Amino acid sequence: MKDCQAMPSLQRKAAGMPPLRELFDTHPARGTIFRASGAGITLDYSKQRVDAEVLQALAQLAEQSGFEAERARLLAGEAVNKTENRAAWHTALRVPADQQTAAQSCVEEQLQRMEALVGKVQAGVWRGFSGKRITDVVNLGVGGSDLGPLMVTHGLREHAEPAGRALNVHFASTIDGSQLFDLLDRLNPETTLFIISSKSFTTIDTLSNADTVRSWLASHCNDETLLLRCHFIGVSAAQDKMTAWGLPAENQLYFWEWVGGRFSLWSTIGLPIALALGASVFRQLLAGAHAMDEHFRTAPLLQNVPVMLALLGVWNVNFLDIRAHAILPYDGRLKYFPSYLEQLEMESNGKSVNQAGEPLDYATCPVLWGEIGANAQHAFYQLLHQGTQAVASDFILAACRYEATAHIAYHEQLLAQHQLNIANCLAQSRVLAFGDAAVAADDTPWRRYPGNQPSSTLLLERLDPRSLGALIAAYEHKVFTQAVIWGINPFDQWGVELGKQVALQLQPLLNNSGAASAAKLDTSTRALALSIQQQQ
Ligand code: F6P
Repeated sequence: MKDCQAMPSLQRKAAGMPPLRELFDTHPARGTIFRASGAGITLDYSKQRVDAEVLQALAQLAEQSGFEAERARLLAGEAVNKTENRAAWHTALRVPADQQTAAQSCVEEQLQRMEALVGKVQAGVWRGFSGKRITDVVNLGVGGSDLGPLMVTHGLREHAEPAGRALNVHFASTIDGSQLFDLLDRLNPETTLFIISSKSFTTIDTLSNADTVRSWLASHCNDETLLLRCHFIGVSAAQDKMTAWGLPAENQLYFWEWVGGRFSLWSTIGLPIALALGASVFRQLLAGAHAMDEHFRTAPLLQNVPVMLALLGVWNVNFLDIRAHAILPYDGRLKYFPSYLEQLEMESNGKSVNQAGEPLDYATCPVLWGEIGANAQHAFYQLLHQGTQAVASDFILAACRYEATAHIAYHEQLLAQHQLNIANCLAQSRVLAFGDAAVAADDTPWRRYPGNQPSSTLLLERLDPRSLGALIAAYEHKVFTQAVIWGINPFDQWGVELGKQVALQLQPLLNNSGAASAAKLDTSTRALALSIQQQQ
């Protein structure tokens, strides 16, 4: 974060910022003014601890960090990922076909190949080794090759086309094989198709699941060529590795090095989404994201939803010293949205050196976690209301729900539940902001609510493919904007590599083939390994 002109005024404002209660008293109209909207999403940030002067200074901070030039470089597909010398051009994946440049035309080509595969599976043209149609699909992938497709597939299930609804789409990511074990126990090898989703096609978590599946299938059919042709589709940026694994070229879908793993759900990594929901739903998701890209590109900073999310985050972390951020969707369909954002935000911006490799003397990404809001009320909200940590929250809410269920006998009850859910969401942001001043206070110390916990509310008209696409893209651009202000590279993740190497070193020790290397270990790890060996 450059030591720019805006810094002293931001520091001064932070030191004297009155509580939210007072901010509303002195400026009662802030609830209707402190909002931004774009691509169908309204961001109400009036319950953030900001005033007009702070907002101006934050916009100045973004400008002085070179944000506009960096945004142009991102959107033009320039090599913004400096440590890996490549672009991060996920926005190219959602440019409508008739607007794609020559450099982007490969996107439509792969999308059409993906749609052709989806059509074959959904129409029952693609068959298993014994000639039966496919009933189940299992995505084998982890991180960005799992979390985005899982989140979207779950979130939009109500929007699935009939052909997608007929398929059961499952996800297995864990390296221990436990999710797979559970699935294989229930699935029919004759009618199950596996997607091996891995940008690098070297991720051991995914490849060990794929190898286990291969053995499972081989125990039911001894024609390996047939199995590889009928039961696996690979999705990767490493064509050679998919071929080396044995996948025929027709069973391979590609994407490119310039698509980051956690930004890849828009690419052929979205295959499980298209299978489960339908190809046209996937296109609507892309269209929603593109609408947000355009909003991000064109809207003035203080009316720009992703930029505002970013600026408020920087304000909370770097000036108000709030190091925790809760993601609270009031919608059961967004169950996996918090874990998706955990990777997007923390793997991108959990950095402590700047683009030049110099250590930072300021904080970057906060600890981010979340849960379906109404469920979290019965779990960790106690800490939000009465704990000792300052926490910023994002409430996410759809105004309309259950319009399509008018024919269902219990439609009225569902509508009433939706209203109850909205009331809970609004109640929580209100109590977090104003504490027990929101109602008649009880003086008993353990019944007091101090309030002054800041939050934003992201309001969608309804949760549908377009609005979900826009919501995800808004957070992607938030992450990028913050990275520019913090002077870090959000597109690499070197911090995940060392653990992988050390795990490989430890493996021989656990299966008794590396006793010699045990001597070099710290005593804790050595004793744990020994205990495990003794118990096995
Ligand atoms: O280890 C982290 C990571 O590289 C993520 O960035 C990525 O999304 C995930 O692993 C999976 O990688 P791949 O798609 O290459 O298997």
